[in-house]
Amino acid sequence: MKEFIEEMEKYAQEYDIPIMQKEGIEFFQKLIVENHIQSILEIGSAIGYSAIQLARLDKAIHIVTIERDQERYDKAVENIHKCSLESQISIFHEDALEFECDELFDCIFIDAAKAQYIRFFERFEKNLKENGVIVSDNLSFHGYVENPQKEMSRNLRQLVRKIQKYIDYLKENDNYETLFINKGDGIAISRKKSSVVIK
Ligand SMILES: C[S@@+](CC[C@H](N)C(=O)[O-])C[C@H]1O[C@@H](n2cnc3c(N)ncnc32)[C@H](O)[C@@H]1O
Repeated sequence: MKEFIEEMEKYAQEYDIPIMQKEGIEFFQKLIVENHIQSILEIGSAIGYSAIQLARLDKAIHIVTIERDQERYDKAVENIHKCSLESQISIFHEDALEFECDELFDCIFIDAAKAQYIRFFERFEKNLKENGVIVSDNLSFHGYVENPQKEMSRNLRQLVRKIQKYIDYLKENDNYETLFINKGDGIAISRKKSSVVIK
């Protein structure tokens, strides 16, 4: 399995596919194990890397993951099959903003279009169990969010503003307590109740 994980990392690098950074995924894996998280809804599968990295932690973990890009979805299906994780990972080829689901999850993982994070949060928070957590990735966006004075294109600046808006949204959201973790590309953990142990 370790070799296949490395193969996926190489593939992502070669084809410029954004997957969770190593430090980020290791932190996330620890969070899943320590909090006995068993059900995860992932927005943004890409090639299935994070879903596979989380599902392989425990046979009891079940993941529903959504990807809108056809090529990445196909690759994710292939990767999940190669890892024999079909019984644990259900993948859907769909735009998450149109995805209908009434299942409840221990964790909702937001890792798709950065400009849409508030919409994803508001669409899927109803799917979160009472003691659940919403995990959001890339809140640092390669350091641009902390350094908005950096030179960047107009599009990138707009994206950085949207991520900052999402960070403010999380900070002001009284229904959740959000921790911002400086690991990987910046992770936020928003919890509904104080039941999650974060080390
Ligand atoms: C950062 S990548 C996901 C990486 C993956 N979670 C991992 O760490 O291995 C984001 C993915 O979200 C997908 N995406 C963006 N907006 C989406 C949407 N509205 N619905 C479904 N997928 C979306 C993109 O096509 C892209 O593959």
